[in-house]
Amino acid sequence: MHRTHNCGELRIQHVGIKVTLAGWVQRVRNKGGLIWVDLRDRYGLTQLIFEEGSTPKALLGKAAGLGREFVIQAKGEVIERTSKNDKIPTGDIEVKVEELEVLNPAKIPPFLIEDETDGGDDLRMKYRYLDLRRNVVRQKLQLRHRMMQETRKYMDGQDFIEVETPVLIKSTPEGARDFVVPSRVNPGEFYALPQSPQTFKQLLMVSGFDRYFQIVKCFRDEDLRADRQPEFTQIDCEMSFVSQEDVLSMFEGLTRHLFKEVKGIELEEVKRMTYADAMRFYGNDKPDLRFDMRFVELNDLAKGRGFGIFDQAELVVGICAKGAASYTRKQLDALTDWVKRPQIGAKGLVYVKFNEDGSLKSTVDKFYSPDDLEQWAQAFQAEPGDLMLVLSGDAKTVRKQLSELRLKMGEDLGLRDRSVFKPLWVVDFPLLEWDEETNRYHAMHHPFTSPKAEDIPLLDTDPGAVRANAYDLVINGVEIGGGSIRIHDRTTQQLMFKHLGFTEEEAQKQFGFLMEAFEYGAPPHGGIAFGFDRLCAIFGGSDSIRDYIAFPKNNSGRDVMIDSPSPISNEQLEELSIKLDVKEEK
Ligand code: AMO
Repeated sequence: MHRTHNCGELRIQHVGIKVTLAGWVQRVRNKGGLIWVDLRDRYGLTQLIFEEGSTPKALLGKAAGLGREFVIQAKGEVIERTSKNDKIPTGDIEVKVEELEVLNPAKIPPFLIEDETDGGDDLRMKYRYLDLRRNVVRQKLQLRHRMMQETRKYMDGQDFIEVETPVLIKSTPEGARDFVVPSRVNPGEFYALPQSPQTFKQLLMVSGFDRYFQIVKCFRDEDLRADRQPEFTQIDCEMSFVSQEDVLSMFEGLTRHLFKEVKGIELEEVKRMTYADAMRFYGNDKPDLRFDMRFVELNDLAKGRGFGIFDQAELVVGICAKGAASYTRKQLDALTDWVKRPQIGAKGLVYVKFNEDGSLKSTVDKFYSPDDLEQWAQAFQAEPGDLMLVLSGDAKTVRKQLSELRLKMGEDLGLRDRSVFKPLWVVDFPLLEWDEETNRYHAMHHPFTSPKAEDIPLLDTDPGAVRANAYDLVINGVEIGGGSIRIHDRTTQQLMFKHLGFTEEEAQKQFGFLMEAFEYGAPPHGGIAFGFDRLCAIFGGSDSIRDYIAFPKNNSGRDVMIDSPSPISNEQLEELSIKLDVKEEK
């Protein structure tokens, strides 16, 4: 037997028994005649002790030769420590070693395998298997495991059937680029890796599965960010004979279940907001509701007073930062520079300080009387001590800029507490979105989302105004999930493809199978998919999903540990009938 106990298990009541432990050497402290070794495994840390006099010389020498991360086995007796360590659960005891075996020596690791490490990002990614030995990293994956088990428990409890859908498929247009896989036996033809199992889950509804779910890998060849990986995991679901309300309530239930079981939090009511309101009041379709700071539109109060910049703007809009009137000139200049950075792109920032003495001081005092500013303050419901920040420009752009400023102010004022969770359903998304690049409408969600019945006539007259039966779950400003009630008849699906600029032939070629399935008795259906990595990151209080993925890719989509992607041999290329157009040097 390699071990009788693990390294996190022994307590004071075990004193006197003989044990065998196995694990990794975290640290060796050699005080001459006394050697302590911290032995680590997934479960914890146990102190081993070797003592001159009672420990044989040879064993003492062996212990002195141990290095960091050696894998060892130690047999001995559990004894009570003279100086106890109340920071670890095994801190009352230590093991007085009688036999020691080195199961495998180790090279000196490239970085410290401790909670606080000296290893940079790249190094830790190259040696991810060592990084994963660190408690703080492993705990994140344990959280992920817990979430996965609890998800399955809830879904199974609600009669959802977990079905695996294929990974080698044909591309589904979800907006991102596909990863493709060449087919050797079908020269010149390619599979695509699924961006999501969207069409398959709809077909399962046609098959009568009624409630489907899958915890599934999805693949999207898009630009990477902290909350985006080229391969990521969804909790993907679909239900038959449901209204939007049924889907929202089922997945509010899942969210509630996860918060309760995994974090011990009773979630408050999940608020609802229309897309139109989210954009109007927060400039963002995924508002962070941990703090209010709603947009206040000032066109009526700010225009026509001779301030050209506001007069020419389509929208003058601002936020009120509670208690921020104490910002110094230097801080305000820094804020102005911040909004003028190319990433934000504002032309300037107007601010009004509502001083503690009740006076109002603005950067535009020249154009606005104290009475005018008093009216602004009323519109903002500002109080003494508050700071009003105002931007202007064309409505779409300025809302986006102010949304960024709002988030920054929330951050600066400590209002984005990671232990507070504010979930929100954003509903009534537009069906279509104008794409400047291709000069046509795109499906905002995907082409299978149904338009609101009452908006269908608008498809011909004002396509951008058509609302969809689509919804997103947002938590703390992060889009956690998205779904919709689907189209389930051929005619509407064809109409949708037509409005997306597909010819009848193109639609038939790409989605004939789905439209045909709709002719064989398709039930009304709808569903949702949660981004599982994002959900884990939110639960863990982190901005980056990378930490919650065992072997993630870096920002250039590379796995630096296995060094992928990488070229393949000419033989492989030939077998796949792929000719690389490599320019020959002259
Ligand atoms: P959608 O495209 O909104 O919907 O994706 C669902 C959720 O998946 C997460 N997500 C990602 N997470 C990490 N990295 C990525 N690159 C990434 N892309 C998306 C987000 C998102 O909310 N088939 C539909 C769902 C449906 O209609 O039922 C779909 O995939 O959290």
